[in-house]
Amino acid sequence: MNPFKFGTIVQGEFFTDRIEELEHVKQLLDSENHLVLISPRRFGKSSLIAKALQQTGRPSITIDFMKVLSTEDLAAQILNSIFRLYKMEKLKHLLTHFRIAPNISYNAMTESWDISFMPLMEKASVALEDSMGLLEKVTTDENRLIIVFDEFQEVNEISSSLAKQLRAIIQRQEGLNYVFMGSQESMMNEIFEKKRSPFYHFGQRMNLKKIPYADFLSYIVSRLPDMTPEEKQKIAEGILKFTNVHPYYSQQLAAATYNMIMYGQNKGDAVSRAIKQQVEEHDLDYERLWISFKRTDRKILTLLARKSNPLTDRSLPTSTAFSSIKRMVKQGYVIKTNTYELEDPFFGEWILQGRSDAPSY
Ligand SMILES: Nc1ncnc2c1ncn2[C@@H]1O[C@H](COP(=O)(O)OP(=O)(O)OP(=O)(O)O)[C@@H](O)[C@H]1O
Ligand SMILES: [Mg+2]
Repeated sequence: MNPFKFGTIVQGEFFTDRIEELEHVKQLLDSENHLVLISPRRFGKSSLIAKALQQTGRPSITIDFMKVLSTEDLAAQILNSIFRLYKMEKLKHLLTHFRIAPNISYNAMTESWDISFMPLMEKASVALEDSMGLLEKVTTDENRLIIVFDEFQEVNEISSSLAKQLRAIIQRQEGLNYVFMGSQESMMNEIFEKKRSPFYHFGQRMNLKKIPYADFLSYIVSRLPDMTPEEKQKIAEGILKFTNVHPYYSQQLAAATYNMIMYGQNKGDAVSRAIKQQVEEHDLDYERLWISFKRTDRKILTLLARKSNPLTDRSLPTSTAFSSIKRMVKQGYVIKTNTYELEDPFFGEWILQGRSDAPSY
């Protein structure tokens, strides 16, 4: 079994460090406060919250806003989650207070309840209020319910009035903790930092950073197959240098390197071979992606792939460079840490290898 894991929530032995962050999250959940957790994509938000929830042992429901279709769908998804947590017996009489009756059916295949609302138009907010109201009725003082809204940056896409409705409901509630998670930094900023936004300065904000270099290094070293300590050290350093310690891509490259060492044909530098293989595997995707960018964006991406700063590059007006970077940060192709960097280091490598028209810059 490959000892590195990427693409899903990591738990147990696959989860490393985040000791301080974990403590911070748990402390917050212990208080009456709500948490706003922001980071670029795949930095480990969901894994961190999953671990914190597990350690608190309290009941929780998680709604992925990427998968919410409408306001009534959100109301239904909340109800579905409540039904998974608590017994029907406990809920039955509470449902009689609902102003709009949901459709409830028992699914024998999944052995669970399926709940939905008909399209409700302007009455959707009533269904949402009642569903959210039920959260307050099932939570207890000893075992306060935690509600996680993941990919919350999508809220305005679902309905332009949804954020306002949610805020109005949540601010009146007691005995619940909400966690708002989101990955498109600038969009989450609009929601939580703009004065006119209903969620302006709502909850405690936490920006999740990368995992510290030394911790990630020893995590990788400890999982590499049998080699001399020097060899392991060199490989782990090579991985983190290429990925710039990005949690997801470091695990991806470590997994590929592990396979190279264990099952690869050729001998030689396993990290380089793993990088080459990953880039080749994604060649078609990168080609398509590259074609979709404007020329200015391509130029910026190439500069970033070369690890130079596009804002000080003389061949582009700073304002042009800045608006291009801003756009690509919003889209998630560029991330802002201490500097600007490409989100996907393998894409950077693809650009440097001079596929398509990249080298003409
Ligand atoms: N604490 C950790 N230890 C080791 N690897 C981690 C850790 N956190 C995250 N990762 C790596 O990053 C990947 C993405 O983690 P996760 O899905 O939790 O991030 P996310 O920020 O919720 O992502 P998304 O933006 O896609 O929702 C994991 O599959 C794993 O490979
Ligand atoms: Mg996530």
